[in-house]
Amino acid sequence: MGTTIYFYTGTGNSLWTARKLSTLLKNAEMIPIPLTADGLIRSDSEKIGLIFPVHIWGIPTRVVAFLNRLETNPGKYYFAVAVNAGQVAATLIQLKNILKEKNINLAAGFSICMPSNYIPWGGAISQEKQQEKIEEALAKIKLIATSIRAKEERKPEKGPA
Ligand SMILES: Cc1cc2nc3c(=O)[nH]c(=O)nc-3n(C[C@H](O)[C@H](O)[C@H](O)COP(=O)(O)O)c2cc1C
Repeated sequence: MGTTIYFYTGTGNSLWTARKLSTLLKNAEMIPIPLTADGLIRSDSEKIGLIFPVHIWGIPTRVVAFLNRLETNPGKYYFAVAVNAGQVAATLIQLKNILKEKNINLAAGFSICMPSNYIPWGGAISQEKQQEKIEEALAKIKLIATSIRAKEERKPEKGPA
């Protein structure tokens, strides 16, 4: 397999993102990040991706736990996509730092903005606006796929200071 994408999704946006990206990359497998489990996570793929939603301006707890189980392999290309509702904040920098502690280089970290699932805060946006966001996200996922194919090194994307 060329690429392994480990993903976590609360309500489907990250799952959708992982599906679109793996289809574009071809030769890619998707593996869900479980709530709890032990043991080392190994993959024979050349590229390793992490896709997850942003929760409270950071990485969800279960994803942090998963990172601790990830095998370190300096020969591989590691990338991530943080799916959010407009406030990716420093999530991908947090990820870069956690992986660095494990001697893993996060080569590229991308932000994808999707309709918010945190509807207690302001409710849901209109169907029309949701569609716009989905189309923008799709256009960006195409650029991300190109970047990953080329194994580009890029600074992790972040929100405004
Ligand atoms: C508990 C919680 C916290 C969230 N915190 C943020 C946040 O800090 N920044 C942001 O942009 N979106 C935040 N969101 C919105 C989600 O990241 C966003 O809707 C994402 O697309 C959901 O992806 P999923 O469907 O894969 O779970 C939060 C959602 C939840 C449920």
